[in-house]
Amino acid sequence: MKKTIAVLPGDGIGPEVTDAAVKVLQSIAMRYGHNFHLKHAAIGGTAIDQFESPLPQETIEVCEASDAILLGAVGGPKWDSQPSHMRPEKGLLTIRKHFDLFANLRPVKAVPALLSSSPLKEEVAKEVDMMIVRELTSGLYFGEPKRKSEKSAVDTLVYTREEIERIVNQSFEMARTRRGKVTSVDKANVLETSKLWREVVEERKKAYPDIEVEHMLVDSAAMKLITDPRSFDVVVTENMFGDILSDEASVITGSLGMLPSASIRSDGFGLYEPVHGSAPDIAGQNKANPSAAILSAAMMLKHSFGLHAEAAAIEAAVMSVLEDGYCTGDLEGEGKRVMSTNDFVAKVIEELEREFISE
Ligand code: NAD
Ligand code: IPM
Ligand code: MN
Repeated sequence: MKKTIAVLPGDGIGPEVTDAAVKVLQSIAMRYGHNFHLKHAAIGGTAIDQFESPLPQETIEVCEASDAILLGAVGGPKWDSQPSHMRPEKGLLTIRKHFDLFANLRPVKAVPALLSSSPLKEEVAKEVDMMIVRELTSGLYFGEPKRKSEKSAVDTLVYTREEIERIVNQSFEMARTRRGKVTSVDKANVLETSKLWREVVEERKKAYPDIEVEHMLVDSAAMKLITDPRSFDVVVTENMFGDILSDEASVITGSLGMLPSASIRSDGFGLYEPVHGSAPDIAGQNKANPSAAILSAAMMLKHSFGLHAEAAAIEAAVMSVLEDGYCTGDLEGEGKRVMSTNDFVAKVIEELEREFISE
């Protein structure tokens, strides 16, 4: 298969974890006879420094000419005092909006080998397997007006029925491929947008009689994610709640460095990036956990290219390396063999080779 992939490493640990994912993709291409043409482009703070824009036109063009986008992370203290339109995060928000990537899939799955690294008790964290479906191109992040003066500031929370319908449909379709349950998370006891959200879920569920649907208020959902995370299958929610709940849920797996994501639209085009940020505290030290980025590349193979066996091979290789006790510093613990980002990636690639030979 021949595919062009736009690679946008970004800032902080972004380039380190993206390099890792690229190495894994190259290994897959070689072994399975694919041709992945990788085109690097700038985003975030690095793009501001080089091109005076967090998302240069040239980067948009590279992405438009590609079949999918692989992204690292953006942001860092260097750019924190910039005005909103010149912040690295603006580049990420603009690319999501430009390509209409409204559905953000964030799978949270407990890894048996990492249960001891989870802050939750093993019996609570074990067998957790949920999919957070976060609306990504509307809500508080994008609503107008949006402004700040010295005396006051405004953000606007707005959702149209159509925007809610398409993400809710996505969650029902997702539940059909899983355990058949959708938890819709909102704040319908206070927010008008949430009332509309709940109405749409009630209406759409008529078309999915096979799916069990529950509504949950976001504050209660935040609590239940920690007390009873196994009770969730698919969680569908608006942009801001999804952002917060997914970082919370990530630690069930032991580390934020484990959580991949796919931001997709209906035609299969997508942007793939770890859920974590640029981690300025460990950037440039060859310490970052590259698993989230590597697993995001696997999601790309599956969702955008339909390469299911290749995606499964990557997942199995990462799990097997973790199973052997190898990990990066974020997962340090008894019986663990902590190694650098580069050494961890080398182990994953070794494991991929072993899997391939034994097939
Ligand atoms: P962060 O996710 O970058 O880091 C939070 C904590 O988790 C840090 O202690 C960090 O060291 C650790 N961590 C994160 N990823 C890790 C990994 N792969 N391996 C090991 N440890 C890891 O969040 P933050 O510190 O709040 O934000 C830093 C910057 O990143 C900010 O500028 C923020 O806007 C940006 N950010 C970007 C994205 C993105 O690009 N998608 C996401 C979140 C935050
Ligand atoms: C994420 C990040 C982004 C978000 C930021 C960096 C704009 O936190 O992808 O989760 O809030 O969506
Ligand atoms: Mn986030």
